[in-house]
Amino acid sequence: MIVRSVFLGPPGAGKGTQAQLLAEHYDVRQISTGDILRRHVREGSELGRRAEPLMRLGQLVPDDLVVAMIADDLAGSFVLDGFPRTVGQAEALDAMLDAGGRPLDVVVLFEAERATLVERLTGRWSNPRTGRTYHATFAPPRTPGIDDDDGGPLVQRPDDRLEVVIDRLETYERETLPLVDHYGRRGVVRRVDALAPVAEVTAKLVGLLGLAHGVNA
Ligand code: AP5
Repeated sequence: MIVRSVFLGPPGAGKGTQAQLLAEHYDVRQISTGDILRRHVREGSELGRRAEPLMRLGQLVPDDLVVAMIADDLAGSFVLDGFPRTVGQAEALDAMLDAGGRPLDVVVLFEAERATLVERLTGRWSNPRTGRTYHATFAPPRTPGIDDDDGGPLVQRPDDRLEVVIDRLETYERETLPLVDHYGRRGVVRRVDALAPVAEVTAKLVGLLGLAHGVNA
């Protein structure tokens, strides 16, 4: 079964954590625009050079750049993690999918309050090579600062500094929250309590996305 989905929600709500878990265990791809952009920044590409100063300040990268990044990657089952983030991006995505007669099946809205989001982001550590995330308190690695899988160093993202986190939350409320109404009109929005433990959120998502019979389950 094919499922085309979007994970929508504020920074730190757990979109990346959950999209990665689903991609590991089920036949669905995670498409994270944040991860793709960070890879461009690391590699020093033209796109990375344009995106880096904006990302560092918690601002959005221009719509045309991110739309171009995902345009050729929309086949099969996917979770879009961190895209769309503006009404312009949503309209571009709708146009691409509608043109192929394959609209979105579900937009999952991760709901969480601000204090928890700040705590999660300022305590986050991640493996820049794989995108796997940890949390100093809630999901620590076996050895502090070292990835459980590849034994390499974990890093803290430059945009997880408190002052940038506050700006990112404001950007979310201003630019991305209007997508709840946009997709509400299409009747595809489903809400999850993002404050619940990781395994509980995963179980809920498996049901919402109809993944229970995934080939890797
Ligand atoms: P991006 O990388 O997409 O960041 P984000 O949306 O701000 O989301 P985060 O990755 O911060 O949070 P998350 O919800 O994935 O949480 P996570 O699972 O890591 O974007 C970064 C930047 O790139 C943007 O600011 C922008 O500049 C640019 N960009 C990206 N996409 C763009 C687009 N479409 N348009 C324009 N610009 C774009 O979890 C957070 C922490 O909490 C982790 O430590 C985790 O272990 C922990 N945690 C997760 N779930 C739980 C739980 N249930 N209980 C306890 N702890 C938990």
